[in-house]
Amino acid sequence: MCGIVGYTGDREAQELLLSSLKRLEYRGYDSAGIAIVSGEITIFKDKGNINNLSKQIPKMKGRTGIAHTRWATHGVPMKNNSHPFSDCTSRFALVHNGIIENYQEIKDELMKKGHIFSSETDSEVIVHLIEDFFKEIGDTEKAVRATVKRLEGSYAILLIEKESNRIFAIRNRSPLVIGLGDGENFIASDVPALLEHTSSVIYLQEGDIAEVTPERVLITDHDGNAMKREAQEIEWSLEDAEKGGYKHFMLKEIFEQPSAIQDSMRGRWVEPADRYNHRSLRSIKIVACGTSYHAGLTGKYILEEILKIPVTVEVASEYRYSPPIRENSTVILITQSGETADTIAAAVEARRRGGRTIAITNVVGSTITREVDEVIYTQAGPEMGVAATKTFTTQLVALYQLALRYGVESGRLDYDDAKEIERELRLIPRKVRAVLDSHEDIEKVAEFLRKAENMFFIGRNINYPTAMEGALKMKEISYIHAEGYPAGELKHGPLALLTSETPVLAIACRNATFEKMLGNIREVGARESPIIVVGFKKDRRILERYADRVIDIPETIPLLSPIPVSVALQLLSYYTADMRGAEIDRPRNLAKSVTVE
Ligand code: M6R
Repeated sequence: MCGIVGYTGDREAQELLLSSLKRLEYRGYDSAGIAIVSGEITIFKDKGNINNLSKQIPKMKGRTGIAHTRWATHGVPMKNNSHPFSDCTSRFALVHNGIIENYQEIKDELMKKGHIFSSETDSEVIVHLIEDFFKEIGDTEKAVRATVKRLEGSYAILLIEKESNRIFAIRNRSPLVIGLGDGENFIASDVPALLEHTSSVIYLQEGDIAEVTPERVLITDHDGNAMKREAQEIEWSLEDAEKGGYKHFMLKEIFEQPSAIQDSMRGRWVEPADRYNHRSLRSIKIVACGTSYHAGLTGKYILEEILKIPVTVEVASEYRYSPPIRENSTVILITQSGETADTIAAAVEARRRGGRTIAITNVVGSTITREVDEVIYTQAGPEMGVAATKTFTTQLVALYQLALRYGVESGRLDYDDAKEIERELRLIPRKVRAVLDSHEDIEKVAEFLRKAENMFFIGRNINYPTAMEGALKMKEISYIHAEGYPAGELKHGPLALLTSETPVLAIACRNATFEKMLGNIREVGARESPIIVVGFKKDRRILERYADRVIDIPETIPLLSPIPVSVALQLLSYYTADMRGAEIDRPRNLAKSVTVE
């Protein structure tokens, strides 16, 4: 997600803002920009890093300003799409973090009134809307209140105004924190940007609008009622603060999943002009690597169940060297980074073979987006830990949405059934939160695994790929050798490896294969292997009879169970690895983005 900083006080703002912004570099970004008030507002912004920006900008005088690092969600990384944005009269400038869901509707309205937009972003509409209300009301504060009442979505906004030293800081489902100084005040999306200057902070709450000047901070709600917020002392080190108080980025990212999933449900489609006729869809191929490949394998179960057409899944490095048979499928390429060399090469090859290509990626403007016909963006925000967590569960969200959409459009899925699945999908962030709330129980289960050197993850049906992903997470961060297997296959070989030293984790969420799964767990028990079972809470009593340890998750429809189960398995791997003293965010020999073949 984007980084935001603001300053108003008696010091020159430019250097201060740029160095505060640099404290947010760890979050990942693709563009940066700054706006300073000195009578008029001056803006500098560009694609690229803060050093690149610093080299271009002249000395800007002024003691009030805002700055931004952008992680693209609407519009590719380029100068025009970078923040800050200004209105047609250059009276205001703002930076924004989050997603404005109804931006298109507002933009259409404002364009009819003559507003001219310079970017493809959702953020730019906010400043034009403020301008529009200001024209009508003649008062900035009132224009801000009228604007937020129109906005739907998530936003943290900083707004400056010419000839003024006040900054409006507006929060809705996207964090903002005010740093309190002496004759100066600071605002940021994240604490690390403030720590150099102050440790006394006020966290804005949902719906807060703060008017910040060098001397005071006035916080109100959308209707102008004063809100009392206590200042707090931050005792974190800078490193702790970057991780939001979590011990590792991986843990932070695991805990970000409820909002990442929620944001991805609002995911955006970039479609070609000639809308594809899904009725003629006969088969689908999914191509990816690593965790994204596991998302693809899960996608096979999702798409086959909903669309009732064959779906094949291939590892990208194998697909690209397979015989060049003419491609009659729609080919879905999944890659969170959008830069994985094998997946990009597979996209090029799929197109060459005549396939229609769709990418699911988390990075706007990444290489894969230029090699395919259509793009679906997940909205997980940057992922710093090498182990994919939130990018995986948001890929699953994209696949559910794609299946529902194709299902309804092709007439293969009844509209009411689609609505029912969608309703359940909307409950998933809450269910993921419940799994996260049980993290202490999962940590106790990790204690049970800390000495293991080998283990198996087993599942059936849609949770067979979940088992594979659970095993991958475990092996890459804890260095325990872990295999993901279809439960029914154990007796065809792997049973020979089971001993009292080989824990087995079984996923047993109630579905058509539940009884069979219990039978498989019994087979494992007969070899005296320690057993952990993950299943629905309502089945805990039954599962306890079969297992040494049970991890329960809230019930959902079987089709959606891979999301909460995966979150539980991510936590299990994390705590196991931490107890073994592993270097979690940078596992040995691995890179976040594999750009070599
Ligand atoms: O960026 P991609 O999704 O294309 O990356 C593919 C794999 O390298 C990646 O999923 C890898 O397996 C994970 N980091 C493992 O957690």
